[in-house]
Amino acid sequence: EQTRVAIVGAGPAGLVLSHLLEQAGIESIVLDRRSREEIEGTIRAGILEQGAVDLLATIGDTSRVHTSGDRHDGIELHFGAADEAFERHRIDFPALTGRSVWLYPQHEALIDLIAARLAAGQDLRFGTTVERVWGVDSDRPRIAGTTAEGAPFEIEAEFVVGADGSRSAIRPAVTGGSHAGGYFREYPFAWFGILCEAPRSSAELIYSNSPDGFALISQRSETVQRMYFQCDPEADPEALSEAEIWDTLQARTPGTELREGRIFQRDVLRFRSFVSHELRRGRAALVGDAAHTVPPTGAKGMNLAIGDVLLLGVALKELLLHGSERGLDAYPEAASQRIWKAQHFSWWMTSMLHLAPGTSDFDRLRQLGELRTVVESEAGRTYLAEAYTGWPYRTTL
Ligand code: DHB
Repeated sequence: EQTRVAIVGAGPAGLVLSHLLEQAGIESIVLDRRSREEIEGTIRAGILEQGAVDLLATIGDTSRVHTSGDRHDGIELHFGAADEAFERHRIDFPALTGRSVWLYPQHEALIDLIAARLAAGQDLRFGTTVERVWGVDSDRPRIAGTTAEGAPFEIEAEFVVGADGSRSAIRPAVTGGSHAGGYFREYPFAWFGILCEAPRSSAELIYSNSPDGFALISQRSETVQRMYFQCDPEADPEALSEAEIWDTLQARTPGTELREGRIFQRDVLRFRSFVSHELRRGRAALVGDAAHTVPPTGAKGMNLAIGDVLLLGVALKELLLHGSERGLDAYPEAASQRIWKAQHFSWWMTSMLHLAPGTSDFDRLRQLGELRTVVESEAGRTYLAEAYTGWPYRTTL
């Protein structure tokens, strides 16, 4: 079987790339190991940059991002050395940058994207596992594996894209064997995340650096809320009672009265920063989490994936419409610039807001000084707002 571009992974990166290619008349096959139900039902990121929203709104007639998403014009930063001295500050995005972000859960964006791609006639195959990738140094790379029905398949393409997440099956072919071939950093904490049935506790997201550690009060809808608190990476999500979870969240958000409700999902999210050493080799490239992972603080993951595919889309058009590898040669460096800015921002938000185990008094007070540096300075608030709402996407190579 043949196609022009084999895209492995039907997440935001793979689906958006298939749309960009189709607009240029380039045929692709998108494969994903997971079922459609699993993709559409897995709770993941929540925040989209303005540029990502603008792009998603143009894909098919099915995007609900403007009708069901919620525009957020700011976030709150709360911090203090003690509950009595707890401060609450707002970062006003439009006033500082002219831009906003949108709260629109990733799985909702995926429901829209899958419907749009299927309506456009996209060859999209769920439950399909890729086990082998070869020939990326030739001009006819191939992938092979097993279909949803358990039958073997093999696809010959002109290009293979790894859009298949942090445990990418394509990455070893790009980095040359060592699966973890990348720059990475671990963190000594994780997030305990919950979904609960309750009204909003705050109009905007609250990022709180309390004496007991970090908490984030986020949202999913009028009636469903998403909240997180810093925990040990080895924590067992089932070990706490609902009352203990509420006590922990409430203790970490002094001055805010949390509205409690039934907790119907809990998970522990590990923190990692990772960038693959190689983003492209011959006729294969990586995008999204296959290329890099950011810790969740600052909500850059899905937005960064879209930045990658906008660039790779340009490079693939040059290759497949004009026979030029110039764009592909430029892709790794061009994508890396945004990737490392987002890596820095995610690391910075993480380190500024969390209490690392064993932190000295010096480091704790320095951290509060850092938060004060940000909130008391227009330049500081502007840096945070620019990064959070997203640097303009680059669409030329
Ligand atoms: C959410 C996650 C984030 O990492 C963040 O910075 C903001 C919101 C969320 O899941 O709602």
